[in-house]
Amino acid sequence: MSGDELFAAGRFDEAMAAYRRVLAQDPGNAEARMGLDAILERARTTQPNAGLRELLLQAYADEGANWDAVGWGAANQIVVGWPHDNDLLKLAADPLLLEFLKKSLNRDAALERKLLALRRAAAEALLATDAPPPEVVALAEALAEQAWLNEYVWPDDATVPDGPASAMFRPSAAPRAEVVEERRLASEIPEIAPIVDAVSQSVAAMYEANPYPRWTHLARRPMVDVRAALMRDFPHAQTVDFGSGPLQVLMPGAGTGQHPLTVASSYANAQVTGVDLSRASLAYGKRMAGRYGIDNIEFLRGDILDLSKLGRTFDHAECVGVLHHMADPRAGLLAIVSVLRPGAFLRLGLYGESARSIVVKARRDIEAARLPSTLDGLREFRRKVMTGEWRRLRALTDWEDFWSASLLRDLCFHVQEHRFTVSRVRSLLEGSGLKFLGFEFNVGASQRADAGAGPLALYASRFRNEPTLSDLASWEQLEREKSGLFPGYAFVCQKE
Ligand SMILES: C[S@@+](CC[C@H](N)C(=O)[O-])C[C@H]1O[C@@H](n2cnc3c(N)ncnc32)[C@H](O)[C@@H]1O
Repeated sequence: MSGDELFAAGRFDEAMAAYRRVLAQDPGNAEARMGLDAILERARTTQPNAGLRELLLQAYADEGANWDAVGWGAANQIVVGWPHDNDLLKLAADPLLLEFLKKSLNRDAALERKLLALRRAAAEALLATDAPPPEVVALAEALAEQAWLNEYVWPDDATVPDGPASAMFRPSAAPRAEVVEERRLASEIPEIAPIVDAVSQSVAAMYEANPYPRWTHLARRPMVDVRAALMRDFPHAQTVDFGSGPLQVLMPGAGTGQHPLTVASSYANAQVTGVDLSRASLAYGKRMAGRYGIDNIEFLRGDILDLSKLGRTFDHAECVGVLHHMADPRAGLLAIVSVLRPGAFLRLGLYGESARSIVVKARRDIEAARLPSTLDGLREFRRKVMTGEWRRLRALTDWEDFWSASLLRDLCFHVQEHRFTVSRVRSLLEGSGLKFLGFEFNVGASQRADAGAGPLALYASRFRNEPTLSDLASWEQLEREKSGLFPGYAFVCQKE
């Protein structure tokens, strides 16, 4: 059995061995790298595990690994291996800790507490002498990089003066080189039309201030013929031949380009157009495209509502985490559909009502306490949640988006959000010209289907006469019967 087959069967030890065998023969193998990273993402032990640490270090040494994913396994190894005496020099000499801080955003509350104390100790050591040990300097640099990754969402400490130690606490006055480059790139991005919709204007202002997400690294993916892959996953889709020219892919709400660049670099023969309200976000994506030498992508500033002004059509579109931030998601959807060719696939991702009930509470508490969506407001919110002052929101720390300023602002401080149920997804699609093909249930940073893929298996056993798993009325019934079925709605449609 292949690593992927073993993974799908939940036989992770054997899958790991299979992936490692492939990588030993062929270190650039993207399938095996992705598979191994998905296992490292899930790997948890209660005692330090030397073998896992070695695999994690190998992943950090591989530019093609998924450092978002392996960060979960690394955080666990760092926590269980943390020295009881909190010794600064011991910690500064831990290569896994340094790699983690520089390459993965921390998403672990227990580890954050340890890192805050470590940051304090490193700052004191730096401030105590003009010639601190080089290991401490390296640790402080790694902590400063982590501060950059989390956009300074950890608490500041006014007792640390501006200077070598302060980079771990707040941005320095001189902007980083990439910020300077992005400002230049932002001014060069062509515009479809000025933004006139009032909600779009305030959403644009939010993402100009906090482009979402800040990412640092494009993981290697196997090349995929996306239409063939979707036809395999959804055999009830209509077969339409688009010929052999490049697949014209539209990414509305491209954000900072992580998803569009993944698509541009891993979908065979694709030409990608990313559209977004936020120039700062697009400039981030453009800088990253340059860094990875990806040239089959263009970035355009504009409102989804104005897509028809492009005067062209697309063969495929992916729009994840976007339509629920529009005043009228259906108007956004119809604008996208209007520029798709018949037979084009559209992959969508929308917020779920039941999964976000805790976010609804957070939004109420934020409003009642009049917390602003500034860095200070975000820090104060985190303090209240993490100290237990706002105990009922404690579970927010289980969310991937709790851990940096742009992620947290997006999660709890958004100027506009709609939440869906299957029934609302159904109304959204009704009469839109789209045929619903099916839901996708991939999880985590490695976007793998979990073994057993719960809801699909449940649907298959509950509605045995509906093998396409795509009847929304049946899904609606299943959602009524089983709360918490959907973490959100990720699904694929086809233009009729
Ligand atoms: C949560 S981010 C998601 C970014 C990206 N799709 C991702 O998954 O990482 C939402 C993005 O949608 C963009 N957006 C929201 N409404 C939009 C609209 N009406 N037109 C174009 N972009 C929009 C925002 O500017 C923001 O960059």
